[in-house]
Amino acid sequence: MKNDIKEILISEEEVSVRIKELGKEITKDYKEKNLMVVGILKGAVVFMSELCKRIDLPIDMDFMSVSSYGKSSRSTGEVKIIKDLDDSVEGKDILIVEDIIDTGLTLSYLTDNLKKRGANSVKIITLLDKPGRRNIQVKVDYLGFEVPNEFIVGYGLDFSEMYRNLPYIAALKEEVYNDEILNK
Ligand code: XMP
Ligand code: MG
Repeated sequence: MKNDIKEILISEEEVSVRIKELGKEITKDYKEKNLMVVGILKGAVVFMSELCKRIDLPIDMDFMSVSSYGKSSRSTGEVKIIKDLDDSVEGKDILIVEDIIDTGLTLSYLTDNLKKRGANSVKIITLLDKPGRRNIQVKVDYLGFEVPNEFIVGYGLDFSEMYRNLPYIAALKEEVYNDEILNK
């Protein structure tokens, strides 16, 4: 697996330090609120579990799974909910936890969707941001790290369901994903 990695962008130690800082910030900001943390499956799972341990408040945790339609329809902004939340969000202060924001489509859809359901507030935390690829402007409230326009794996992020368990954040070698595409 390590042979597929082009470069480690963010070490295990750096991620851990940043998540502690974010946890402190969120603890301070949500003291008087009714925090509900919503993780987006599957990429956000590793980040969310580490983050929640650093939030010193009573919290609800839930998950959603979404898929955006094929490339051609991406620009139309279609996102489909595959797994929804178990409970109502009415009156809750939602913090959406995402692994990476790329075009912005997923998070812009989810923010609108949860606001319409009567959440008290909806904010976003993302471990990674690829600002160079944004199509839709989305306000990111808490950010781990900016990353270059590479294919990123590790710390929850996958390529073809692999590499999610890498303890660091890395860029994948181009030939790994080019080969996979050619073999399909
Ligand atoms: P949008 O374009 O909606 O995309 O902001 C967000 C989703 O795209 C996936 N994504 C990646 N996944 N490495 C990954 O493993 C990447 O470099 C990458 N870029 C985008 C991711 O699922 C995210 O939720
Ligand atoms: Mg994802």
